[in-house]
Amino acid sequence: MARHFNGDKLIIASHNKGKVREIGELLAPFGVQTISAGDLDLPEPVEDGDSFIANAEIKALAAATAAGIPALSDDSGLEVAALDGAPGIYSARWAGPTKDFNVAMKAINEKIADLADKTANFTCALTLAWPDGHMESFEGKVFGEITWPMRGEKGFGYDPVFIPNGYTKTFAEMDPADKHTMSHRADAFKQLINACFNS
Ligand code: IMP
Repeated sequence: MARHFNGDKLIIASHNKGKVREIGELLAPFGVQTISAGDLDLPEPVEDGDSFIANAEIKALAAATAAGIPALSDDSGLEVAALDGAPGIYSARWAGPTKDFNVAMKAINEKIADLADKTANFTCALTLAWPDGHMESFEGKVFGEITWPMRGEKGFGYDPVFIPNGYTKTFAEMDPADKHTMSHRADAFKQLINACFNS
């Protein structure tokens, strides 16, 4: 059985403002006070794991042990089928040192523009870590396809080129509340809440 979260304060172990905002929105109904690792000036650990969960564990454990309170991390990315799952765990790196996702989205489009298979999915690994080293991890996915050109101003990262299956809008054209009903992050969150908050 998963360890239950009984505290009232949780660190969001991320320096990515888009993720911190979405995680705050998803946790809002549970009355948990959240502080981001960026606000606490916690160092960003080297993400050298070979999977989303391995990287999520590195980030959550580093924040929980540094701050002495439980920490929740998110490691996520876009996996394009025709690119054998790239950019995958390197999704942030494809945006380069200036974190310009227009560059990353253009690079993907250039590689798949002439291919019939535009299918892709987002994956999100969430890890809840305690200062004693205990961790609980969950992985969620959403499937869809890559569109071009980019559409929409909402969301973050690769949202302007991703259309989830069954919809016509990109994630960046959807209201955040609608994205939260179906996203990879929402899927992982449901599992986390059922295992660690509601049980
Ligand atoms: P990391 O998990 O911090 O290594 O970064 C993952 C990268 O994947 C983010 O910087 C985003 O660009 C991308 N990503 C993760 N989740 C989403 C999402 O919900 N929408 C769009 N892009 C995302």
